[in-house]
Amino acid sequence: MNQNHTRQLLGSLLFGALVLGACGSDDDTSSSDTGVTDITSAPDTTDATDPIATTATTEAGSDSADAGGTVTVYTGRHYGIEPVFEQFTADTGIEVRFTTGNDPELRERLIAEGVNTPADVVMTADAANIELSADAGILASVDSDILTETIPEELRSENNDWFSLSQRARVIISSTERVENPPTTYAGVGDPEWQGKLCLRPSTHPYTQSLVASLIIAEGEARATEIVQSWVANDPLYINSDTDIYNAVADGECDIAIANTYYLGRLLTENPDFPVGIVWPEQDGRGAHVNVSTAAVTANAPNPEGALALIEWLATDGQQQFADANFEYPADPNVEPNEIVVGFGEFTADLPAVRQLGANQPAAVGVLSATGYE
Ligand SMILES: [Fe+2]
Repeated sequence: MNQNHTRQLLGSLLFGALVLGACGSDDDTSSSDTGVTDITSAPDTTDATDPIATTATTEAGSDSADAGGTVTVYTGRHYGIEPVFEQFTADTGIEVRFTTGNDPELRERLIAEGVNTPADVVMTADAANIELSADAGILASVDSDILTETIPEELRSENNDWFSLSQRARVIISSTERVENPPTTYAGVGDPEWQGKLCLRPSTHPYTQSLVASLIIAEGEARATEIVQSWVANDPLYINSDTDIYNAVADGECDIAIANTYYLGRLLTENPDFPVGIVWPEQDGRGAHVNVSTAAVTANAPNPEGALALIEWLATDGQQQFADANFEYPADPNVEPNEIVVGFGEFTADLPAVRQLGANQPAAVGVLSATGYE
């Protein structure tokens, strides 16, 4: 974030506190990151290991801004959120404070804060983590015709305590220079043909856990264990960044990998000839594993009305911007994806699994551990 931009934002404020997140195009906060970056932290206390450093900027009217005017968000979904929140403020006059961290950290923080939490909204980059938050009793069920009419039933919880805002497909990727016939199923990634040629994200990352949860849902735990075992038998190179995984495929460290599609959107923006392609898996069956970016009103939200206003806006007026900011697929099927994303082609998505990822996350962790997946 440059200073000029900061000044412009400050100039647009009527009152209250504004918090600016220095979100860049970095990969996700890795699961090994320790920092939940607090919006009220001074810059010198910011965890330098967190790629999403958050900067605090305050503060004109103190608590007077809370008269319906400020929403506080804990978000594990980092990509491009700052301009989206700015647009929400411009449209509604409601300001947004936000704190970034990874999904499990933010969940633990909400549990620890209990009724004293300042958070009105929690956003995640993973379906399992929001369902685990629901199970922990820290989300509020909301009654919103806007959300139930906009977000398909498969992409929100049964009791409407969380809502997907975008879909993120986790697919097979391969070198367009060295691979003629990449696998077309997740099981195919374990074919001995890919021995020593495979890159995977580590077991600690929610993306990996939700992928394996989807295998358990589709194939049963015994078969899912066999599939993951076959991946491990291919002696994968574990890399805890999807961007680095794409670059490893491009550079020849591996020939195939499993990764989210939106990273390719970013890489193609920088280099239209980036030599990695997408394979849509399971197209003769259940469809590609799809995870979601979600949002929920917290059970102890100080400003539940503002929280709901933000989520409804993200699902409607802000839906295109939210999804496009990270080359994701909009949750609202009536909103077109970014043209680069459209260029990835049409595909069948395993949407029915989305709601079940949380319930199967513990079993997925067990499968990963039992198979020696690092
Ligand atoms: Fe990501």
